Amino acid sequence: MVLAAALAAGGAVMASAQDTKDSTAAGIAQYREMLADGNPAELWEAAGEELWKKPAGPKQASLEACDLGLGPGVVKGAYAKLPRFFKDTGRVMDAEQRLMYCRMTLQGLTKEEASARPFSSPGKSSDIERLMAYVASESRGAAIDIPLAHPEEKRMYELGRRMFFYRGGAYDFACATCHAQPGLRIRLQDLPDLLTADGARYAYSTWPGYRVSQGEVRTMQHRLYDCLRQQRFPEPLYGSEVITALEMFLARNANGGKMDAPSIKR
Ligand code: HEC
Repeated sequence: MVLAAALAAGGAVMASAQDTKDSTAAGIAQYREMLADGNPAELWEAAGEELWKKPAGPKQASLEACDLGLGPGVVKGAYAKLPRFFKDTGRVMDAEQRLMYCRMTLQGLTKEEASARPFSSPGKSSDIERLMAYVASESRGAAIDIPLAHPEEKRMYELGRRMFFYRGGAYDFACATCHAQPGLRIRLQDLPDLLTADGARYAYSTWPGYRVSQGEVRTMQHRLYDCLRQQRFPEPLYGSEVITALEMFLARNANGGKMDAPSIKR
């Protein structure tokens, strides 16, 4: 009851009139199809590839030797296998943490420089969003593959799972409040059930995505940051362990899905 009231306060409605829901969903699907003919994210991908290959930082090095998990210099297919454990740092890293690491080690940037402006704002573009658009695009069509072989990977998955169900904040929401049952919606947006393979695959394979409402390509870090904000949780630090843990949980649930990012999103 408390939950129902809280969801109502948050603007969520259970689909009671199935017909209305179906036609709205069909409308949104059609809108996405139209937009997908020319996804503006292509511009981000191209700019990101240029940045990747351009010497930068105090060491005047490009990122071409970056090891995203498949060996130095291999970008193709790497995003679909992240997050993963890295021997050289002794921890599980997601794509964005690994990018930060490569910018520091290869290019000689400080942590502050390598994590500056992770999310663009009007008039201020983000190199990170561009670089991630490029890196993710190189995994298009690759199957999401999270074996959870290393004990640290298992630990991160478990941490992510606990976080997913952890309730708190002003509304006493968890991720699970909005994303663990079929048929929930907030305004016009269907909320994917992230505990099912279909829901997790759809959600995980389509980020980064070009957000029509924001006119920017946003990364998974941004998507989760935005959900934690809707959840009224404290703002996570960019690249923090809790986000990687959540990604580990989502990616593993999405195992076998085919990457299709950057996609186009509302
Ligand atoms: C108050 C409800 C709410 C809570 C709590 C919430 N989210 Fe979301 N989430 C949303 C909305 C709204 C969207 C956008 C759906 C859309 O645009 O179609 C979304 C989208 C997402 C997506 C992308 C889905 C897609 O297909 O693009 C992921 C992944 C996600 N949330 C994960 C999480 C995680 C992990 C948490 C917990 C940290 C969480 N959410 C908490 C409301 C919520």
